[in-house]
Amino acid sequence: MNAFFEHSTRTRTSFEMAANRLGARIINWDMSSSSMAKGESFEDTLHTLNATHPDALILRHADYNAPHYATMIMDCPVINAGDSWRAHPTQALLDALTIRQHKGDLAGLRIAILGDIAHSRVAASDIELFTRLGAEIHIIAPPALMPDWDETKNLKLFTEIEAGLEECDIVMTLRLQKERMAKGLTGSDTDYHVQYGLSMERLSLARADALVMHPSPMNRGVEIDNEIADDPRRSLIRKQMANGVPVRMAVLEMCLSGSINTRD
Ligand code: NCD
Repeated sequence: MNAFFEHSTRTRTSFEMAANRLGARIINWDMSSSSMAKGESFEDTLHTLNATHPDALILRHADYNAPHYATMIMDCPVINAGDSWRAHPTQALLDALTIRQHKGDLAGLRIAILGDIAHSRVAASDIELFTRLGAEIHIIAPPALMPDWDETKNLKLFTEIEAGLEECDIVMTLRLQKERMAKGLTGSDTDYHVQYGLSMERLSLARADALVMHPSPMNRGVEIDNEIADDPRRSLIRKQMANGVPVRMAVLEMCLSGSINTRD
């Protein structure tokens, strides 16, 4: 059962396609037509979904740690399809797969993640997975969107895009996630584009064969220029989308076959 309490195009559709390809049937619970509009709580909604006995619940929610909370109510595995700004594990898996397909092992690669790091669950999960796989991460963000992190051997922080892009094999850029921001945290979209937008000129500061990623949805002309987003020689963005289906098939298969401990 897909239960998305936040908007989604790629994640929801690719979980749906993945389930269908595995021969499962999927129910898309729809928040906008649900009884939450009549005041029903998240907890009571979960009890209702659990009472219909799904084999797995695929959950996206804006509240911190909501998938973990759901595991305490549901009798089936709960798959995290996006937890607030905290985690988006299946996106990290498909991002790592995409990098491996085009650059080989992640160990030794230098990967820049550029933009609204503070509000990005994609950045959080990517950093966790990519560093475990031995990559070096360059975080590039305006001071207001830079988390309060310490640098480590494999995690370096930059507020200047030029220094951060140096010798990078991959440049991943992110949307300004305004729905999670306090008002006034950033200037206008135009100012952001001037200071942190990824253009061909800026990309040339990375390695000559550097490839570009974005989890989407993209705001073209803000964090990324059309010229890069649509260049199949430089952009892996559509490959990331395509990898959503096989990666989520694998996650569903592992959870439903009991081959991993789904309580973790
Ligand atoms: C992201 C998300 O929802 O976390 N999109 C996705 O799942 N591919 C990124 C975003 O919303 O900017």
